[in-house]
Amino acid sequence: MRVFRLNVNGDDLEVAAPAHWTLLEVLRYELGLIGSKQGCDKGDCGACTVLLDGSPVLSCLRLAATAEGHAVVTIEGLMPMHKARGGDGADVVQDAFDRCGALQCGFCQPGMMLSARALLNENPKPTRGEIHDALAGNLCRCTGYTQIVQAVELCVAEAAGVEPAQPAWSADANGKKV
Ligand code: FES
Ligand code: FES
Repeated sequence: MRVFRLNVNGDDLEVAAPAHWTLLEVLRYELGLIGSKQGCDKGDCGACTVLLDGSPVLSCLRLAATAEGHAVVTIEGLMPMHKARGGDGADVVQDAFDRCGALQCGFCQPGMMLSARALLNENPKPTRGEIHDALAGNLCRCTGYTQIVQAVELCVAEAAGVEPAQPAWSADANGKKV
């Protein structure tokens, strides 16, 4: 056992756990932050994605000790952080995923939304290709991705005050609604 000193969702914490535990294990099994999912547990699926100093990382591959001295954000932190910045209710990414119906079982969603949040923080006006690239490490076994991409595009459009692009399934080759 050892004591990890972590900053999680803005809180400085001391948590005792086996020294070899991953960040994901500490988050889920000591801190009770079970929004971060344990999918493949070997770096393939992205379900365990959290933000480390604002960048998406796979918490199943990262020893908890390597997160000391860095700011960790899990899905549980998105809404409180949004409110702390003066927002109302859920983070706009969470709201857009909800409104677009961008989920079925929901298992991939915490990681997916954190990857989307990191993208929009870095690049508020990503192209559809850049959205695909940013979410490429997050696998969804249910949705087919269309509404997930649509949700991110909705965030972009609403931030810019313009109409969102038509999703691929409702647009012809010229992007016109069908
Ligand atoms: S659980 Fe970490 S990548 Fe799948
Ligand atoms: S909604 Fe089921 S894995 Fe994505």
